[in-house]
Amino acid sequence: MEHLVSGWCNDRSLPESYILPPEKRPGKLTVPLANNIPVIDLGGHDQTDLIQQIFEASQEFGFFQVINHGVPSNLMDEAMSVFKEFHALSGEDKAIETSKDPNKSCYIYTSSPNYATEKFHLWRDGLMHHCNPLEKYIQFWPEKPPRYREVVGPYTAEVRKLGFRILEFISQGLGISPDHFSSGLSENQTLLVNHYPPCPDPSLTLGVGKHRDPGGINILLQSDVYGLQVFKDEEWVGVEPIPYAFVVNIGYLLQIISNGKLKSVEHRVVTNSNVARIAASFIIIPSDKTLVEPAKALVDASNPCHTKAFLANTKLLPMALKH
Ligand code: OGA
Ligand code: NI
Repeated sequence: MEHLVSGWCNDRSLPESYILPPEKRPGKLTVPLANNIPVIDLGGHDQTDLIQQIFEASQEFGFFQVINHGVPSNLMDEAMSVFKEFHALSGEDKAIETSKDPNKSCYIYTSSPNYATEKFHLWRDGLMHHCNPLEKYIQFWPEKPPRYREVVGPYTAEVRKLGFRILEFISQGLGISPDHFSSGLSENQTLLVNHYPPCPDPSLTLGVGKHRDPGGINILLQSDVYGLQVFKDEEWVGVEPIPYAFVVNIGYLLQIISNGKLKSVEHRVVTNSNVARIAASFIIIPSDKTLVEPAKALVDASNPCHTKAFLANTKLLPMALKH
């Protein structure tokens, strides 16, 4: 993977292919931090209140942060450390550690999965691997750093539990069966570990361009370095890194399943010139050929069906991340 940004970014130059057309550039680098993206305390015991808070946040912002979510903080620290260590390996090691599965359930890419055909590139490297079922896929995960599997196995198991709890709250908020998402709709669980090295000119390029997440929900662990921005009320606002919080966002398929009640909101990642940033997305999406359609209970005469039913195609999902 000679193209990985981490392999050549120390040259401190921005190749032309990374310079975005003016209308796609980040513009103002210091945007206000969002003071209204909800921070929801999952440690509370009033379930009705929690359901309401999550539902409102998913309707209004498509984004919220969760604290007291049950994932142990030391596991979050350890996961962040092994993610950093992985991305600090040599390019050769990263290539070896991500080619253990001929079916490519674990791989690394740079910029986007469309590197070969895209018009311009993005300032990020991404390690992606499947997580469910763990017993099937863990054998293909990196073995360097040596603790990768030992840490990321339990980490993804905990984040999965959190993800399902949130999906259950969301179902209750929507008034559909709490296990609406318990089968095919949530079967595919993927971890994407993004690495954004320090960038010589953050005003000209992006780590990830403006996009909606294509899947169900995304549970994001971000390091203490700022970079994520959400497009809210026609302007960009920053998502503050809160220690030991997860950022949750509603993917496009969830917008469809909710018949438009929940919003999948556009966001992007800006780079910075001082420090590398790591952000790991745990993505819950339907398995291949699962029927995706608005939940029947959410369709009636006054809420007509927004989208026709279709079969999920996981191969196309990562590609759907537009730039
Ligand atoms: C994504 C994404 C945000 C980040 O992976 O879809 O938006 O901060 N990531 O890396
Ligand atoms: Ni995203």
